[in-house]
Amino acid sequence: MAKRVAIYPGSFDPPTIGHLNVVLRGVKIFDRVIVAVAESTSKKYLFSVPERVEIWKKLLEKVPGASVESFSGLLVDYVQRKGAHIILRGLRNVTDFEYEIQMAITNRELKPDLETVFIMTEGTYSHLAASLIKEIVMLGGSVKGMVPALVEKELRKKLSKNQRAKEKAPAQ
Ligand code: PNS
Repeated sequence: MAKRVAIYPGSFDPPTIGHLNVVLRGVKIFDRVIVAVAESTSKKYLFSVPERVEIWKKLLEKVPGASVESFSGLLVDYVQRKGAHIILRGLRNVTDFEYEIQMAITNRELKPDLETVFIMTEGTYSHLAASLIKEIVMLGGSVKGMVPALVEKELRKKLSKNQRAKEKAPAQ
């Protein structure tokens, strides 16, 4: 029987506990879940794509059935290249729903044999957003319980590196 492969795409800048929760539940439904970090040139990210892939690799070390890759170009083309038919996404709230329905319908219009499958984020994680998490760390707050411990460490490392670079830069 063909293996059911689900592609879980996203920016993941950085991955949160909510993202990890989607993968952990996804591997119970699908034979394989491939986390796909999108290479986008239109947005500015804190972590580079290879850094985000590295973080995911560590998070998935003990998760059988899950792996991580990066992709560029259209998601539907990447999914097809992987021989998959399922795009997996997490849903937190109605705001997500509006954005997700638009993407899911557009992706289906591009490739009608693809299905987007949603997993409702665990209630305790439904408020988590990578953008808020970055802001909290930047302003010296704790994000314990919002991101895996190793992600919090990487966030602090990255933000203090950026701060040092800013201090070294000549004043404008
Ligand atoms: O975590 P995000 O930022 O909500 O993820 C959005 C993502 C990466 C899934 C979406 O922007 C995407 O699929 N990008 C790849 C380019 C593409 O296929 N765009 C058309 C989407 S309908």
